Amino acid sequence: MASIEFKQVTKTFDKHTVIKDLDLTIENGKFTVLVGPSGCGKTTLLRMIAGIDPQTSGQVLINGKDVTSIAPGKRGVAMVFQNYAIYPTMSVRENIEFGLKNNKVPKAERTRLVETISDTVGLHEYLDRKPSTLSGGQRQRVALARAMVKQPSVFLMDEPLSNLDAKLRVQMRIELIELHKKLGTTFVYVTHDQVEAMSMADTIVLMNQGQIQQEAPPDVMYRQPNNLFAAQFIGVPPMNVSDLAGVGGVRYGFRPESAILSDKPAEHHLLLRGVIVTREMLGSETIYQVRSGPDAFMVKCTEDLFSVDQEVYLGVPEAKLDFFGMDNNRIDKAHKQFDDYMRRLRGFSHG
Ligand SMILES: Nc1ncnc2c1ncn2[C@@H]1O[C@H](COP(=O)(O)OP(=O)(O)O)[C@@H](O)[C@H]1O
Ligand SMILES: [Mg+2]
Repeated sequence: MASIEFKQVTKTFDKHTVIKDLDLTIENGKFTVLVGPSGCGKTTLLRMIAGIDPQTSGQVLINGKDVTSIAPGKRGVAMVFQNYAIYPTMSVRENIEFGLKNNKVPKAERTRLVETISDTVGLHEYLDRKPSTLSGGQRQRVALARAMVKQPSVFLMDEPLSNLDAKLRVQMRIELIELHKKLGTTFVYVTHDQVEAMSMADTIVLMNQGQIQQEAPPDVMYRQPNNLFAAQFIGVPPMNVSDLAGVGGVRYGFRPESAILSDKPAEHHLLLRGVIVTREMLGSETIYQVRSGPDAFMVKCTEDLFSVDQEVYLGVPEAKLDFFGMDNNRIDKAHKQFDDYMRRLRGFSHG
């Protein structure tokens, strides 16, 4: 078990600063997911925890202890990568045992660990197989087991599911959640996929361009995004956003499932007339794209009532509307302008 702390951490490659003055605390025993677009610095952050590629300045602490001068192998962390390096000529057992042998763990203890851990990840009956005879998911489990035998106090995972097909990815997500429950160890999981972050995390740390945009549990991240970036990175389709007429730089937004479509005007704070331009029937829901003036809004409905080219009214209740200021931050309800913005939206509505 371990907590991790970044204090004013900066990472520079050559002259290019990728992470600047970052402060972050990762709680002991939690499943923390670092999420953000490709190139935002997630892997860099993970490698600093592991000690593979240390910070340029600032401190990284594990369990309150500065680990700057501690070698990667001595930090009590284990890393699982996207391109998990398992040895093709070794059996599953040998793969799992490999690190233990290197560390001169006695034979009896090695056998015990391999047995217990292969049980935990469901590989027991495959111990004598070669990796080439395993499925992608099973191979990923070998990689996990290899990390687990080290009995680390922190698991670092860098996009470990990206190479799996969609169905297997969903299954492995559930397995990882269960594994985390069983082990109770600190998990730091990196992904660019917000769905993975939403489904697995206790805490999401959302990054963009080396900076933390928001740190929150999934439901808070979704309902109360700090800023436009968070509002549009989390959720599929992303939050709809448009300029608030008459107030320079201020925008309003609403989630695709917060809009109500109807063929008659109804009473809403935001009410727009539009026309359906695309319709995607996904089974349990339908996603419409509604063009209204210069805007195109995505609307998620549980019923499939409309067709392309149909004229509709798009309504959004007050409680589902957000505003974003010139600085791109979400404007709190308590803000003195909030009511004014809401009034403008009502005035701007047309039916
Ligand atoms: N070894 C390196 N040398 C130079 N630039 C690097 C190196 N590693 C990462 N970078 C740069 O740092 C930025 C963040 O990279 P990375 O942490 O890999 O992003 P992510 O994992 O979020 O996709 C990128 O601009 C990348 O090009
Ligand atoms: Mg990466």
